[in-house]
Amino acid sequence: METQLFIVIPVMFFCGLIAGIPAGMFFGRKNTDVMNGLVKIGASRVSGRGAFAIRNISEGTIIERCPAIEVTDKDIGGELLNYVFYGKYESSRLVAMGYGMLFNHSPEPNVGYYREETKLGTELVLYALCDIKGGEEMFYNYGEDWWKTR
Ligand SMILES: C[S@@+](CC[C@H](N)C(=O)[O-])C[C@H]1O[C@@H](n2cnc3c(N)ncnc32)[C@H](O)[C@@H]1O
Repeated sequence: METQLFIVIPVMFFCGLIAGIPAGMFFGRKNTDVMNGLVKIGASRVSGRGAFAIRNISEGTIIERCPAIEVTDKDIGGELLNYVFYGKYESSRLVAMGYGMLFNHSPEPNVGYYREETKLGTELVLYALCDIKGGEEMFYNYGEDWWKTR
């Protein structure tokens, strides 16, 4: 009986290994798409990464509610300056977290945003300005001031 176990256990281990390697290669494939709710981050046709609609989105739909913090312009510098919104005051900046930070600019945007104060804190709410097709890149308008200062 013991001799049989000495043979059966290594054979089972070996079979598991043989089956596990291809299964791991198949199921463990790296998926470079990052997505959340209605938004997927992918390669943009205008610049680096951009935000894309995962499915058709109808006009008025809230696309993302980004938790945000208001900081002073002294807290923001370098490249980070390109990723923040204007705050309530001239010297303040709004850091909107989540994919909301990564939308590219268009003068004809399909996404709008507004700021909302909630019980948990400030949020930047992104919503569809028109019907958006699944797979379409989504843009908001950074505003003239944003481009003038760069
Ligand atoms: C908030 S980030 C947008 C995400 C960025 N594309 C990335 O890959 O990280 C803002 C930066 O994206 C670039 N950008 C956004 N919209 C653009 C546009 N319409 N044309 C050219 N560059 C744009 C500019 O370099 C800008 O500083």
